[in-house]
Amino acid sequence: PVTRHYKFDIILKNVTRLCRTKSIVTVNGKFPGPRIVAREGDRVLLTVVNHVPNNISLHWHGIRQLQSGWADGPSYITQCPIQTNQSYVYNFTITGQRGTLFWHAHISWLRATLYGPLIILPKHNDSYPFAKPHEEVPIMFGEWWNVDPEAVISEALRTGNGPNVSDAYTINGLPGPLYNCSRKDTFRLKVEPGKTYLLRLINAAVNDELFFSIANHTLTTVEADAVYVKPFKTNVLLIAPGQTTSVLLKTKPHYPNATFLMLARPYFTGMGTFDNSTVAGILEYSTTLSSPSSSIPVRNRPLFRPVLPRIGDILFVENFNSKFRSLASAKFPAKVPQTVEKRFFFTVGQGTIPCPKNQTCQGPNNRTKFAASFNNMSFVLPSIALLQTHFFGQYSEFYSTDFPTFPLHPFNYTGTPPNNTNVRNGTKVVVLPFNTSVELVMQDTSILGCESHPLHLHGFNFFVVGQGFGNFDANRDPSSFNIVNPVERNTVGVPSGGWVAIRFLADNPGVWLMHCHFDIHLSWGLRMAWIVQDGKLPNQKLPPPPSDLPKC
Ligand code: C2O
Repeated sequence: PVTRHYKFDIILKNVTRLCRTKSIVTVNGKFPGPRIVAREGDRVLLTVVNHVPNNISLHWHGIRQLQSGWADGPSYITQCPIQTNQSYVYNFTITGQRGTLFWHAHISWLRATLYGPLIILPKHNDSYPFAKPHEEVPIMFGEWWNVDPEAVISEALRTGNGPNVSDAYTINGLPGPLYNCSRKDTFRLKVEPGKTYLLRLINAAVNDELFFSIANHTLTTVEADAVYVKPFKTNVLLIAPGQTTSVLLKTKPHYPNATFLMLARPYFTGMGTFDNSTVAGILEYSTTLSSPSSSIPVRNRPLFRPVLPRIGDILFVENFNSKFRSLASAKFPAKVPQTVEKRFFFTVGQGTIPCPKNQTCQGPNNRTKFAASFNNMSFVLPSIALLQTHFFGQYSEFYSTDFPTFPLHPFNYTGTPPNNTNVRNGTKVVVLPFNTSVELVMQDTSILGCESHPLHLHGFNFFVVGQGFGNFDANRDPSSFNIVNPVERNTVGVPSGGWVAIRFLADNPGVWLMHCHFDIHLSWGLRMAWIVQDGKLPNQKLPPPPSDLPKC
């Protein structure tokens, strides 16, 4: 193992998309941001220097951060943000993970432009559990706003209304030829016939789950969230924000004399405004010296277009998600907790807060603001990072440990919603003793409409042991849980109008955020934190903070 050094300068940069130029927050002037590449077992030292007016923090999404919680990155959870002209060194070691992850800003909506791939290669003498690909290509989905995304979220929070939607989806920062004034900003994947490519798909979009497909090509899924999965073939994938999926693309054995569109478009079951436009990239068989002289020049070739499911295709999504399984092999065992010490049941969904006096609100009924919650608790960020106040034992001043672990007022979650949809605000956490085995059922609610929620847990991978439609039935449903080879991930979609059950072992001391990876729901309070206490042994304790930890 080696140490990999990166220097990330946060700077403003003028970028042009859809024929408009604007100044955006970037790392080193790049959009999307630079790629981090390391091997399993390596240590990564990232120096982040903030040269912009905004407060910043960066998160290494999916990295387990074993005993390095100070490097996790969510603002006001594990650190205070890095202020203008300040810097912070993120220092962590990659243990027991290999595959595709990504990094992104973790404050306000700055991740709209601050994100990049984080690729973990196998150890030096180790190989993939599939044939070595000819080439590896990161494919990152994102969103582009013609205005400043920071203005979009602050306006939404001020009025209490839903936010304005983005102007385009992007592949590696490019909207592609289906948008006006965007033809030259098209991602082109140049391939040769008869080869296998590893596509590292990353959904860094702010508020949308996406379908993805490449015309006339089948993809083989081999890894998700930096864990290998049992390979399966598919023409269309669903990928939620926060999820990463590696697929093998086998190209045609001979030059096809055609080009192929790759398309991504949202999956959406909620209400309100959304952007249902389509981002396109092009799969292009390159003409080389060895290609047949009969081959048609690229610009004259016919163009094929894939067919994507319709926008609210719940059944496609349910079927697709059920295909994921752990490898569960001798080399890559599935360490699913076989027994459960603590059980939790969280409702997941939207709600409202009453309009404060002297304000006009534009949320539901024009008298409220939108909010979102677990178990009706909408999480308010503290003024000092929780990990700090936890470590120095100042908890009572900044947070309380009485997070409701079951709904206080149970109702028919997928039936007629209750009359009062107001949530409560608070900074409440759940405390877990070291090594507790946890089972958590997350239930979507029909309050203000059913919607799928990509739930992300920091600091852990979890096993998705069960999922279903309707209300979770604690007497019936657990008997069908898969505790043999369930998929292991860090982000899972709570099905629209349904539930999902996960298990994890709380073997990582620290404070770990869990939230919906739609940034609008995150901003509305669909977040909470788990505090995992130290264990007895030295290697089960959270070390003291680094000396350059930013101050609030
Ligand atoms: Cu990628 Cu807290 O998230």
